[in-house]
Amino acid sequence: MKILIVYYSTYGHIHRMAEAIAEGAKTVEDAHVELKRVPETLSNEILTSMGAIEAQKSFESVPICNVDELASADAIIFGTPTRFGNMAAQMKQFLDATGSLWQKGALIGKVGSVFTSSATQHGGQESTILNFHTTLLHHGMIVVGLPYAFQGQMRIDEITGGSPYGASTIAGGKGERMPSANELAGAKFQGKHVATITSKLVK
Ligand SMILES: Cc1cc2nc3c(=O)[nH]c(=O)nc-3n(C[C@H](O)[C@H](O)[C@H](O)COP(=O)(O)O)c2cc1C
Repeated sequence: MKILIVYYSTYGHIHRMAEAIAEGAKTVEDAHVELKRVPETLSNEILTSMGAIEAQKSFESVPICNVDELASADAIIFGTPTRFGNMAAQMKQFLDATGSLWQKGALIGKVGSVFTSSATQHGGQESTILNFHTTLLHHGMIVVGLPYAFQGQMRIDEITGGSPYGASTIAGGKGERMPSANELAGAKFQGKHVATITSKLVK
C-alpha cells in the first residue's frame, strides 16, 4: 500500500512534522511511504523578505509532487501551515490543479488526512484542518483525524498542538519554536493511524 505525504512548508515546521508522520506510517507492515512537497509559488524576492530562503534549503531535496501521483496512492496525508485560518495558497494552487482527477473520480475511496501548524496557539489550526477536509470530501476521500487514543492531545501541563482533527504544532510568532516531543508524537500517531486504516481497506 502506498502512503503519500504531501506538504508545503515555508520555515520547516511542517517539514519536521511530515517526517514524524512518515516515521509513524512506516511502522505499519507493507506501508510504502513517500514524502513530497507541493511547488513553491512565491518569488525568491518575497521569500528573501520573509526570511525563508535558508529554511527552505534544508528540505529542498524532498521531491516535488505532481498531481497525477495522487491517483496512485492509497492514502494521502496533507500538511500545510495556517494562513489566516486556512491552508497556504501553495497547497490550494496544487489542489486546484486536481480538477481532472475529480472528473475521473480518481481519489474516491482513498484515505485523506491533514496536519498543520500556526504561529499562535489559537491562530486557526482547527479551522485550517476542517476547511481542508471540505476538499477531501469533494474528492470522495475517507477523512481520518487524530483520535483521543493519542492521549498527548489531552495535556494541559505544557503548550501543545494536536486535536481530534489532526496533528499540529505551534511555531511561535517568529517561528522560533520547533515541534515539541508531544507534537511529534501526535504526528507519528496520525501517520500510523492512517496507515493502519488504509491497510484494512486495501485488504
Ligand atoms: C501570510 C501569513 C498568514 C499567516 N496566518 C496565520 C494565522 O492565521 N494564524 C497563525 O497562528 N499563524 C499564521 N501564520 C504563521 C504561519 O502559520 C507559520 O509561520 C507556520 O505555521 C510555520 O510553519 P512552516 O515553518 O512549516 O512554514 C501566517 C503566516 C503568513 C506568512
